[in-house]
Amino acid sequence: MRTVYLITFFLAVLLIAAFGFRGTIFTRPPIDVFPAWAFPGMQHQAKYKAQTASPFFADGRADRPLPVGVVPADYGPLAQPLHADPHLYDGKNPDASFARGFPSSLVIDEKFMERGRQRYTIYCSPCHGGLGDGKGIVSKYGMGPANFHEERFHKMAEGEIFNTITHGKLNTTMPSYADKLVPADRWAVIAYVRALERARVGTAADVPPEHRQELGLK
Ligand code: HEC
Repeated sequence: MRTVYLITFFLAVLLIAAFGFRGTIFTRPPIDVFPAWAFPGMQHQAKYKAQTASPFFADGRADRPLPVGVVPADYGPLAQPLHADPHLYDGKNPDASFARGFPSSLVIDEKFMERGRQRYTIYCSPCHGGLGDGKGIVSKYGMGPANFHEERFHKMAEGEIFNTITHGKLNTTMPSYADKLVPADRWAVIAYVRALERARVGTAADVPPEHRQELGLK
């Protein structure tokens, strides 16, 4: 019997909590669980706001200048001294035209291709498709991502693709990946896109001699 009373009681509390007093307008402030007199540090924490004064520092300013010798680590124009290689960081030649081929500082090996395959699968395949043919899942919902097997992409300089990955393509749903792929990863993705293209147009004659036997070729 006691259980029945208890359950009824809790149900009543639950119902009132969920539906009771709805729409009631309160004129007094709500109960303060952490009143300032009991928890002085909670509501008024000691801090400096931007561009205010501080008696603590000799120059009287709360904002502190950067220590001497700080090097910006972002990818903005200020970071240019760190980004001395325009091919690697912008996909461009010194004369600002799009560079062909891959930056000389990168080693294009199996590990690099595998990295490119992973990044491509994560970031590009939903739109451009696992085969690079533009038939990713979004194409079923009316979006038209580029098909990398079109001739114009075979001819496109690697640097131009790099530029698209970095900045996205204007007025399309092609976004910028500058915040998700560091420059070396963007190049790895391009290497993988090149491999996808090659895989479609390649013939048995392209297989190097040392792999011919394992593929059953003469
Ligand atoms: C949200 C979908 C989406 C994702 C994700 C996406 N793209 Fe795109 N991409 C597009 C669309 C849409 C276009 C524009 C097609 C057009 O111009 O007709 C495009 C165009 C391109 C182009 C061609 C630009 C040109 O010069 O015409 C390249 C290269 C490209 N994407 C590479 C990539 C790579 C590499 C990734 C992964 C890092 C990627 N895209 C991820 C949607 C996407």
